[in-house]
Amino acid sequence: MRKSTQRIMGFVVLALVLGQPSLGKGQDQGPLSEWGKDLYMLRCASCHGEGGRGDGPAAVALKNPPADLTRLSKNHGGTFPRAEVMQCIDGERPVPAHGPRHMPVWGEVFRRERSDSEAHMRILALPAFIESLQER
Ligand code: HEC
Repeated sequence: MRKSTQRIMGFVVLALVLGQPSLGKGQDQGPLSEWGKDLYMLRCASCHGEGGRGDGPAAVALKNPPADLTRLSKNHGGTFPRAEVMQCIDGERPVPAHGPRHMPVWGEVFRRERSDSEAHMRILALPAFIESLQER
């Protein structure tokens, strides 16, 4: 992809994110969330489970159980912690606060596979889908 195309796509995604009226209500079903869902099923469900409960087929092989992603809102006083989730996925933020990290640093993985801007879009799309998994 050419740089200019990448930049335009970045704006498109940003517009999608900002323009979604349902954001923050835990029922985000927009195109970004759909894309996030595809990515999630490919890259995350093996550990976190298709429904996000931390019960994926690879979970048994892990020393540290994968987080239950359906309780993120509940654990944050009812608001989905989008920024923190993005940081966890990107790897800017250690999960959990102490000890070694057991989850791949997806920001690096995505940036290695694709351009920076697509990596960024993926890191926006995943929380959009994860938000739709939240228990109410
Ligand atoms: C190899 C197994 C594995 C895969 C694959 C995986 N995770 Fe994780 N994830 C973990 C584990 C284990 C934790 C618990 C924290 C730790 O031990 O690092 C975790 C924690 C998290 C957290 C922090 C939750 C909290 O309580 O704050 C988020 C968000 C998350 N994962 C999202 C994702 C996303 C999105 C993907 C796909 C791109 C993904 N994970 C793929 C194993 C995995």
